[in-house]
Formats: sequence, C-alpha cells, structure tokens
Amino acid sequence: MSSPGHVRLLTWSRASIFGAVISDLVLGTTYFGTRTDRDSSFALLDRFVEAGGRWVDTANCYAFWADPSGHGGQSESVIGAWLRANPGAREQVALSTKVGVEPVDGAPEGLSAPVVRAGATASRERLGVETIDLFWAHARDLGTPIEETVEAMGILVDDGMAHRLGLSNHPTWLVERARSHAIAQGLETVTALQLSTSYVEPRPGAAVEGKDHRFGWVTEETRDYVEQHPEVEVWAYSPLVQGAYDRTDRPFPAAYDHPGTTARLAVLADVADRLGVAPSVVVLAWLVRHGTRPILGVSSLDQLESALRAGELALDDEVMAQLDAPA
Ligand SMILES: NC(=O)c1ccc[n+]([C@@H]2O[C@H](COP(=O)([O-])OP(=O)(O)OC[C@H]3O[C@@H](n4cnc5c(N)ncnc54)[C@H](OP(=O)(O)O)[C@@H]3O)[C@@H](O)[C@H]2O)c1
Repeated sequence: MSSPGHVRLLTWSRASIFGAVISDLVLGTTYFGTRTDRDSSFALLDRFVEAGGRWVDTANCYAFWADPSGHGGQSESVIGAWLRANPGAREQVALSTKVGVEPVDGAPEGLSAPVVRAGATASRERLGVETIDLFWAHARDLGTPIEETVEAMGILVDDGMAHRLGLSNHPTWLVERARSHAIAQGLETVTALQLSTSYVEPRPGAAVEGKDHRFGWVTEETRDYVEQHPEVEVWAYSPLVQGAYDRTDRPFPAAYDHPGTTARLAVLADVADRLGVAPSVVVLAWLVRHGTRPILGVSSLDQLESALRAGELALDDEVMAQLDAPA
C-alpha cells in the first residue's frame, strides 16, 4: 500500500491547481452499525471507494450513545466486516481511528499510555488490520500529561501498529508541546489535527448545542499554526453543520446567529446558484481549496452522491475571493 503521506502530496497539489478531488474527502462513519444499519453502511463504503474515495474516519467509541450497550465499537466492526467481505479493499482505503472517549464507568477512558495501547490493539482487532493508517487522540485528557500520551502513540508507530498520528479536540499550545516532545524523543510526531470548522462559524466562545469539546474548533490560532507548520493537516469534522446549508428542517444553531453568517450565506447562495450545485457542495470544495480535509457525515447514498460532487468542483480564484470576502 502506498503511504498516505505520499497520497496527500499528490492530492493536495492537484487540489491547489484544479480544485477538490474525491480523494481529498474523508468518509465519516460515526453511526455505521448503529443508526446506519450494516447493509446501508456497506453500500456507502462501496460507493465511496468506487468513486475514488480513500480515507475512512471512525473511532473506538462510535457510537456508544446510540447503542443500548452504552459502548462503542460498532462502527469499527462494520468497517472490519466490509474489509473482510471485499478482498483487495484494504489496498484502496486508508483507515483513521481514535482513542480516548470510550466510556469507562461513565467517564471517558482518557489518554494514559496503557489506554492508548489497549485502544489501538482493540481497534486493530475490530478493523481486522495490522496497521492503523492514522491514529488519533480523540480529546484532551486533563488527567494525563500530553508527553505520556504522545510517547505511547509514537511507540505504536515504532511497533508497526500505526502509520501516522493526530490530535483531535486539543488546544494549539498542547499540540505544539506534544509535537515538540515527540520530536525530541526521536518518535513519530503528530501530523494531523481534527477539529470542527465550516464556511460559517459560531460566535467565538458561544456554546453550540451538541458540541461539547471546549477546544474542538478551528480558530485563527489553528490557522496560523498550520500555516507555519505545513506538514500538519487539518481535518474538518461536522463541515455541513448537520445539513443546515441545504435543509430548512435543520436551522443553524443559535451560536451561528451573527452578521458574518448572514453575509456569507448570501454569497454562498449566489455562488451555488451560478455553479448549479447545492450550497453544501460549494462549502466542501471551499474547505479543500483552503487545505482542509472535510469529513463527510452521510446517512444515505443520496447525501453521499451530493457530497462527492465537491470532488469534481473547481472553484477558481475569482470565486474563492468572492467566498472569502465576507468576514
Ligand atoms: N473528532 C471528533 O470529535 C468528531 C466529532 C464529530 C464528528 N467527527 C467525524 O466527522 C464526521 C462528520 O461529522 P458530522 O456527522 O457531525 O457531520 P455534519 O457535516 O455536521 O452533518 C452530517 C449530517 O448532515 C446531514 N446531511 C449531510 N449531507 C446532507 C445532504 N446532502 N442533504 C441533507 N442532509 C445532509 C445528515 O443528517 P441526517 O443523517 O440526520 O439526514 C448527516 O448525518 C463523523 O462521521 C466523524 O467521522 C469527529
């Protein structure tokens, strides 16, 4: 299997010249095996890969809140079953999974060294793979020094259990501490951040219903950090704000109610209309043009087909300037 790092260089250079390509998009699988049944999950994976999709994102805790057991693992198990049912598919997909949020006695398991190693071991077993292509610490754990976490993650890479490492829902200062520590120890360091962002943003500091990670947002500081560290990718979760761009039954949460949103939605409607695509398609292509990898949350083939159109949409510099203009 070619290294995901190599794929990234190819796809990102193409993206900057021609617009998004389908391999820039990531398939999110939070509800695979719970709200999205096995057959529907298989159909989504089939179509994503057939269309040229490469990255599939999951977590060991998906989706504990949607399963009567109160524990996760269903999403990874369905992906594992799909890989077993499709010999050769392992060479076509890159697997991204996370540790740290699975509940233990009602609280997140955290990111201690034993939890990180046991989490990676169990994820590999459910997925049925030797190596996790990108392994993430899911959310900040105040009870564990970040040095302990990144050392445990780096050792996974040394042991062939993971290829690359990422941090999700961590403040930027902690990201820098983690990366510097791993480098000083001669270990594999973090090269990806997974945070929420979209074309419109909530008011800074405002609580957003259903979003409970204090450091779960791309901020100006994140943007500056990755500009200065181009080896670090940003993956965007919840890029479509639960479908709010296209659906009247999904209003944006109250925290998005500010003049910047009004101005941006007006420009977005105009661009989408001119290009003849849904506003959400423009949002996904816009994120890719800004060097961010959107993670698609889809529960039907129709939603997936719509999102895949972003992989064929070239936003030229003039359109990008128009979209970027409202602050
Ligand atoms: N690292 C983290 O902490 C974290 C947190 C959240 C998510 N994630 C990752 O990011 C992925 C995506 O997150 P998300 O599910 O919150 O994404 P999202 O972009 O906010 O929302 C996805 C939802 O929007 C609706 N939707 C999407 N496309 C649509 C379309 N074309 N037409 C109408 N409705 C549409 C669907 O709702 P219905 O299904 O109700 O129709 C879908 O489930 C997850 O699967 C997971 O891999 C990571």
